[in-house]
Amino acid sequence: MPALQNQSLTLNPNELTLTRVGQLERRIEASIERVWENVLDWEHLPYLHETSFDYCELDEAGSWGWRVWSSPEHSSHIELCVDQDQYVARSYAGGLQRSEIWTRLKAVASHATDIEVSFYLSDVPAEKVSSLGESMRRLYSILWDEDEAMMRERQRQLDAHRSRTQRLELGPVAQLRNQLPLTFEFNRQTYELSMTSHWTLTPKICPHLLGPLQTVEDAPNEVRCPWHGYRFDKTSGECLEPETARCRLRPLPHVREENDVLWVIARPDHELGASAP
Ligand code: FES
Ligand SMILES: [Fe+2]
Repeated sequence: MPALQNQSLTLNPNELTLTRVGQLERRIEASIERVWENVLDWEHLPYLHETSFDYCELDEAGSWGWRVWSSPEHSSHIELCVDQDQYVARSYAGGLQRSEIWTRLKAVASHATDIEVSFYLSDVPAEKVSSLGESMRRLYSILWDEDEAMMRERQRQLDAHRSRTQRLELGPVAQLRNQLPLTFEFNRQTYELSMTSHWTLTPKICPHLLGPLQTVEDAPNEVRCPWHGYRFDKTSGECLEPETARCRLRPLPHVREENDVLWVIARPDHELGASAP
C-alpha cells in the first residue's frame, strides 16, 4: 500500500491553516546517492537521532517512501513521500496532520549536496512564527549534522581501499601488550585487539551498512551499532536484534603467536561459508 495521504505530493493536501515558519539551507558533504539512501532509511531514526525520536515502528515502505508509527499505541505516525528531486514528510497525531516539511536536494559535486528545507506547521499564531521557525531550524540542523556524520563515515568505509591479504604481522608480543587495545585493519574490516586470558578480536565495522560497532557495556560478548541499533554476538556472529536482520558478522580471522611475534591470519574460504562482508 502506498502513501495514505491523498495527493501526498502537493502542498497542503488537507487544506489546513498551514504557515511556513522558516527554512534551512545548507550544504551536506555527501553525495546525493548517500543522501537519498539516508532519506529512505527510516530505521536509523530512533538510534542515530535518539534525542529527537523515541519510538519508530515500520508500517509500510516502498519506492514511494515510508510510513512509521511514532507512538507504541499507533496514535501518531510520520509519512515520507518522494517526488523526483524533493521529498515531503508529514507528521500526524490522532489522525490529524501537524506538520509538513519539504526538502529539496541538489547534487553540487560528487561528495556534496545542497538541501533546502521548508517548515510548515498548522495553526500557528502570528506572534509565534519566528520562534517556531528558529526551533525547527535548530532541530533540523542537529538532525542533518547527525545524518551527515553517518553518511560521511559510510562513504569513507565504501571508499577505503582494502586489498585482501593472507597474513598481517601485528608486531612483537611484548610490545603489543603495552599498546592494548590496538585497532588495525585487515581484509575490509577494522578490529580491536585486546587480551583477556587470550588474544581477543572485536570487529568494529557493522555488516549492515558499515556503521561503527561498539562493545555492549553489560554484555562484553556483544557488539552494537549506533546507526540502526543492530546487536551481534561476537562468537557466533549472529545478529541478535532485530530478528529480521539479514546480516551477520563475518567469522573472525585467527590470531597466532609465532616466535614471540603476533600474526593475524585469514580464514581459509571453506571456513568462511556464505557470511556477509
Ligand atoms: S549500519 Fe545499520 S546497524 Fe550498523
Ligand atoms: Fe536522519
